[in-house]
Amino acid sequence: METRHAYWDRVYTEKMETAVSWYERHPVPSLDLILHNAPVKGNVIDIGGGASFLPDHLFEAGFSGVTSLDLSAVALARVAHRLARYGDRHRCIVADVTRWSPDRHYDVWHDRAALHFLTDPEDQKRYGAALRSALAPGGIAVIGGFAPNGPSRCSGLPVIQHDSASLLGLLGDEFIMLQGCSHNHTTPTGMIQQFEFTAFRKLG
Ligand SMILES: C[S@@+](CC[C@H](N)C(=O)[O-])C[C@H]1O[C@@H](n2cnc3c(N)ncnc32)[C@H](O)[C@@H]1O
Repeated sequence: METRHAYWDRVYTEKMETAVSWYERHPVPSLDLILHNAPVKGNVIDIGGGASFLPDHLFEAGFSGVTSLDLSAVALARVAHRLARYGDRHRCIVADVTRWSPDRHYDVWHDRAALHFLTDPEDQKRYGAALRSALAPGGIAVIGGFAPNGPSRCSGLPVIQHDSASLLGLLGDEFIMLQGCSHNHTTPTGMIQQFEFTAFRKLG
């Protein structure tokens, strides 16, 4: 059976990052929620960041460091190449977030459309534990995925649809909800996908 890593490497090998259904040149909802709620323009980790253009915008906005974590080394090689001019301010981690232990604290945890692939409740628990351990006190988590009225599959895989309440349940008592928004994403082939994004703060 194909591993998770091999699956996502194949996706990024077969398609350029501008052709995948989740491509967005300007990640508006993610950026808005991060810019409005981040405690400082410090260190961000982009979970399942793939070859996303979010890090480019975060550096332009003045954030000091961005780490892209993803299962796919192919996707991360592309974003690393694009952001080489930022030197060690941009880091890449090839990992499954459900098997990863952070070695430092981050001010912002961002996830657009990675958590929604974790349909196994045990994987979701491990995701919640990694998030709690990675975020600094006062840090924020911005999580976006298909809304309850959105698609039930993404990239050929089944997904789980979260709303703000179910996400808060996953994060736990140390977190409060700050802000949420709905967003209709238009794919490169013109399909509309309903997303929901929410920002949470870890209490200090
Ligand atoms: C739909 S894409 C979204 C990519 C990016 N966040 C964006 O908005 O452009 C989902 C990404 O999550 C990654 N991913 C899926 N499951 C993951 C896991 N368990 N751990 C780390 N990354 C994962 C995939 O490799 C893929 O790059």
